[in-house]
Amino acid sequence: MTILVTGGSGFIGSNYIINLLENSQEEIINLDLLTYAGNPKNLSDFENNTNYRFYHGDIGDSDLVNKILNKYEPKSIINFAAESHVDRSIHEPSGFIQTNIVGTFNLLECSREYHNKLSENERLGFRFLHVSTDEVFGSASPSGPAFNEKTRYKPNSPYSASKASSDFLVRAYNRTYDLPTIITNCSNNYGPYQFPEKFIPLTILRAIEGKEIPIYGDGQQIRDWLYVNDHCDALNKVLNNGLPGDVYNIGGLNQITNLELAENICEILDEVHPSKQSYKSQIAFTKDRPGHDRRYAIDCNKIKKELGWMPSESFSSGIRKTINWYLEHQEWTDNIIGGAYRAWIKKNYS
Ligand code: NAD
Ligand code: DAU
Repeated sequence: MTILVTGGSGFIGSNYIINLLENSQEEIINLDLLTYAGNPKNLSDFENNTNYRFYHGDIGDSDLVNKILNKYEPKSIINFAAESHVDRSIHEPSGFIQTNIVGTFNLLECSREYHNKLSENERLGFRFLHVSTDEVFGSASPSGPAFNEKTRYKPNSPYSASKASSDFLVRAYNRTYDLPTIITNCSNNYGPYQFPEKFIPLTILRAIEGKEIPIYGDGQQIRDWLYVNDHCDALNKVLNNGLPGDVYNIGGLNQITNLELAENICEILDEVHPSKQSYKSQIAFTKDRPGHDRRYAIDCNKIKKELGWMPSESFSSGIRKTINWYLEHQEWTDNIIGGAYRAWIKKNYS
């Protein structure tokens, strides 16, 4: 049985593929454009694994997507492919529209055609799982309720608006064409292989490099952090037992302010990788992100009750694992923080 994974060379996709190849007999096809965020080295251990095939290409390329679907006849598609960084969407939104909306539309069109050709049994078993975000709900009030599956969409950044649009397309393909789609809306992930433009790896990296740790605005924004492997487990539960046409929210049950999080990382680094003075002295408040959402919080009661999923990693162990992974894999970051990365840092922070 084959699963087509798109965007499998990025942060969550790599973790997802590694988990599947290590713990199942599934055959995985990874279609990835290898943008700055995609890294084939994440999966280099599996180059000779007969259950793994890599295609370098765009989810917006219908010839390529059709070719893969017809050749491998996957039972499921799981769509991770996206432009994913909010700050980049503020500087240059067009790539977000192209991949997140037009690319997803193309993937849906190809899937519709493919699904129509399947036998009755295959049609029933087929799933299109679209991996989306809690950012589509906009900003939760400081002490208001967490987002559930019925919360209204109110995206505030070009990134979240593009993900919201793709969610609506996915929903429409289920209602209009009976394509067995499922959408998941997940909170902030952290763990190995996350590109160091995102807050946690950026904080770790800049701390050990002796550079300023940038905190946007007053640092009191709240995020609900989930260890990436728990997200992958949730996606498998949804893929295997979720209802077509349904939506599942996935969250970490771990809300913390950005400032507390940065201080927490600094305290762990002070213990495991001490420097002359506490890393906290490198924390620096910078200009706020435009349209910055104040709080994300996920109510994951539905997936808990219906599919029996709960996060299993505590934040205190997950963040230590993550810090240790970055300390032990400095060659991984050295390979990706070239000129383009430095140009991004200059553009966003100067
Ligand atoms: P990422 O930026 O690390 O990886 C994205 C991957 O998609 C990269 O490998 C990139 O090369 C690939 N890609 C980009 N455009 C493509 C295209 N047109 N065709 C094929 N491949 C393309 O992202 P991530 O953090 O791993 O997020 C994966 C998915 O999960 C995204 O859809 C994102 O919206 C969603 N999500 C992320 C988080 C999070 O905290 N990181 C939380 C919830 C949902
Ligand atoms: O909630 C899910 C989303 O989480 C995903 O859909 C996105 O793909 C993913 O990038 C992430 O979005 P955020 O914007 O929440 O994550 P980021 O790591 O960019 O920022 C986390 C918080 O830290 C946010 O409030 C902004 C703040 N921040 C971020 C950076 C990069 C800083 O204060 N300083 C920084 O330098």
